[in-house]
Amino acid sequence: MSSLTASVLVERIAQSNLPKVDFKNLEFGKYISDHMLLAEYKNGQWQTPRVVPFGELKMDPGILALHYGQAVFEGMKAYRMNDGNISVFRAYKHHQRLNRSLDRMCMPAVPEEIFINGLHTLLETDQAWIPNGEGSSLYIRPLVFASESRLGVKISDLYKLVIMTSPVGPYYSKPLRVKVEETYVRAAEGGVGFAKCAGNYGASFYPTKMAREQGYDQVLWTDARDHQYIDEAGTMNVMFVLNNKLVTPKLTTAILDGITRDSILTLAKELNMEAEERKVSLDDLVDGFKNGTLTEAFGAGTAAVVSNIEVINIHSKDYQLPKAGPESFQQRVKQKLYSIRHGNEPDTHQWNYVIPIK
Ligand code: COI
Repeated sequence: MSSLTASVLVERIAQSNLPKVDFKNLEFGKYISDHMLLAEYKNGQWQTPRVVPFGELKMDPGILALHYGQAVFEGMKAYRMNDGNISVFRAYKHHQRLNRSLDRMCMPAVPEEIFINGLHTLLETDQAWIPNGEGSSLYIRPLVFASESRLGVKISDLYKLVIMTSPVGPYYSKPLRVKVEETYVRAAEGGVGFAKCAGNYGASFYPTKMAREQGYDQVLWTDARDHQYIDEAGTMNVMFVLNNKLVTPKLTTAILDGITRDSILTLAKELNMEAEERKVSLDDLVDGFKNGTLTEAFGAGTAAVVSNIEVINIHSKDYQLPKAGPESFQQRVKQKLYSIRHGNEPDTHQWNYVIPIK
């Protein structure tokens, strides 16, 4: 599904940076593509977006995003399909989630026409940057931030939308060891945990650094009140296979409404896997480890895709999961997502926004 109606101005880079990219070593986020989309919000409305060479933005240190945190982003991916066209996975759903995050932060919604048409033009312009190696894709990072310079605490009147892209390989290159966090908190109910705002990530750095020092890759966040229930992992939602069912924490205002999470829940039915969204307690996990009914754990996210979890540390004890072989649910659903995105099987849910390459 694709459409392109509104005008987007395009200013091309004089000399492409593509020859500098080592496509065999696509460390996540290392390379930024030649162009970015830029749109400004002023006088109460978004102005015509422009595709321009990627580069610095002129602004002063007083901008409200830097002081009071009005900054929201998204994470999406584009793939090279088997017929050479480009597919953007669930572009409209990402746009809707961006606007939900913006609303929570008192920032202006980005009209669908600006977002979709701007992205379409950007990807057409930088189509040579979309890798086609196994496990690689073009990561898309839309960002909106408050650009008014003012020291008083206020809602900004000026904003910028930037969309930049980066050819990437896998975010996690090996199975993960995660630690259940029982002291620090990522988000509390009623806060901004469900929104993709910059502060959620900065706040997670300190506990994550401590977990890394103890030999873990990521923190598994628990509810802010009792530290009894699993929320998410910060860079991804979490899912378990427990008693032969796919189980994942039910969404709250403290959990990001993951688009990969949603897609996996939908595909579970097609893979004959019963799925349950519910509160998942630490006791559920410990019991599952003890009686052997917890057979899989994995993270789900745009960057993470489906990332195997091999160890979970709960109450300072490491619990090991069985190896996830080709018959595991996580491997099967990962393969199905891959096939849909690359056009190897019919896109029955109309998840791909297809950009035909002429
Ligand atoms: C994503 O999956 O797109 C994210 O935003 C997670 C992380 C890379 C910040």
